[in-house]
Amino acid sequence: MAYSVMMVFGTRPEAIKMAPLAQVLRQWPDLDLNICSTGQHREMLQQVLRDFGLSVDEDLHVMTQNQTLNGLSQQLLERLDTTYARIKPDIVLVHGHTTTSFIAALAAFYRQIPIGHIEAGLRSGNLKSPWPEEANRRMTGVIADLHFPPTERARDNLLRDGVAAENIEVTGNTVIDALFWMREHLKKSGWKPASDSPLAQLRSDQRLVLITGHRRENFGQGFERICLALAELALRYPDVQFVYPVHLNPQVQKAVYGLLSHQSNILLVPPQDYQHFVWLMDRAYLVLTDSGGVQEEAPALGKPLLVLRKVTDRHTVLEGGTVKLVGTQTERIVKETSLLLDDADAYQRMCRVFSPYGDGHASERIAERLSLWLEEHAGESEAP
Ligand code: UD1
Ligand code: UDP
Repeated sequence: MAYSVMMVFGTRPEAIKMAPLAQVLRQWPDLDLNICSTGQHREMLQQVLRDFGLSVDEDLHVMTQNQTLNGLSQQLLERLDTTYARIKPDIVLVHGHTTTSFIAALAAFYRQIPIGHIEAGLRSGNLKSPWPEEANRRMTGVIADLHFPPTERARDNLLRDGVAAENIEVTGNTVIDALFWMREHLKKSGWKPASDSPLAQLRSDQRLVLITGHRRENFGQGFERICLALAELALRYPDVQFVYPVHLNPQVQKAVYGLLSHQSNILLVPPQDYQHFVWLMDRAYLVLTDSGGVQEEAPALGKPLLVLRKVTDRHTVLEGGTVKLVGTQTERIVKETSLLLDDADAYQRMCRVFSPYGDGHASERIAERLSLWLEEHAGESEAP
């Protein structure tokens, strides 16, 4: 008998990290995979589906411009409930910490459908940062049946929260599966940005600083301070190219384009599809980000990384000495970036491949444990 596995995702990072797992599960004997996109993101999700050749079976189309978290949650809960009632999956797989993840888990819990949580157990220890993601991840952990933390440290966090050891499988993070797959694909095909891409104008004889930033807790003054730092750095280093793919959230667009569009060595570009973005990371001299996924990817590529957050839920990455938590104060960002641009020794010390979040085989480990778990448990709970 084939078990029905429903994977739910809705945002760019979830799709990137679920894509390699979907590829493995599609080939796995005795598993019938159904992919449900909530559509929490529209354009940014389409890019990922295209890059990985993924097709979705259910699309809930929830995104609206400037959506509120409560409005989004209400739509998600209703539409997911109807979908679960129709498909009756044996297990629902969710990823990480977005509103899609938590609400998809909650809707499954209320229907007594088991939940598998990928990228479980990361903790910043601060409910306000990342907000609302720290709470989303913790609440998902409370109701999940099977937990797939990327690291031992994340496993310990789950044990401390009272999760039974037999329901935890440390697997590494599937983002590294996606990253290594894409890097290999780019290398093999000798891929370069097309001549009509804004990235084609980048000069290979100049250093490139790659920036991303979109966190809600940084909206307002946090973003202003980050942008002021970038403006100052661009003036101070006219021979360095600063490239910022700007997230489609209108709050981010307004702040970034408002404060940075006048600077000739800052290239503001639309969100890049995964192949362009991996190419950019690989090409970068250093990376500045408040993103979760980029904190795992850049060190795995050996790129020095400055994290634009006060606290991180990726503590393990700080242990390798290639990543620094610099916060969102203008002076500190300027100082730490300048150090890496001016001091070759300081730069070299942070320039080393470090990948505590995975070896590129997390998806196989998840699939293996998942199919065993389904054999042991499926049918135990009767969905109402
Ligand atoms: C969401 C996640 C965050 C994740 C981020 C990744 C929550 C609460 N937040 O934040 O954890 O780090 O995605 O990018 O789940 N928009 C578009 N097109 C798109 C995507 C977004 O226009 O393809 C605009 C829309 O106006 C939308 C807004 O961005 O309303 C915000 O999107 P939303 O998913 O609510 O929040 P993010 O800030 O993207
Ligand atoms: N990313 C991308 N294009 C971009 C910026 C980021 O493909 O223009 C990828 C990045 O490599 C990582 C993921 O998107 O895998 C991170 O997504 P995001 O920063 O939106 O979310 P977070 O990880 O913070 O939840």
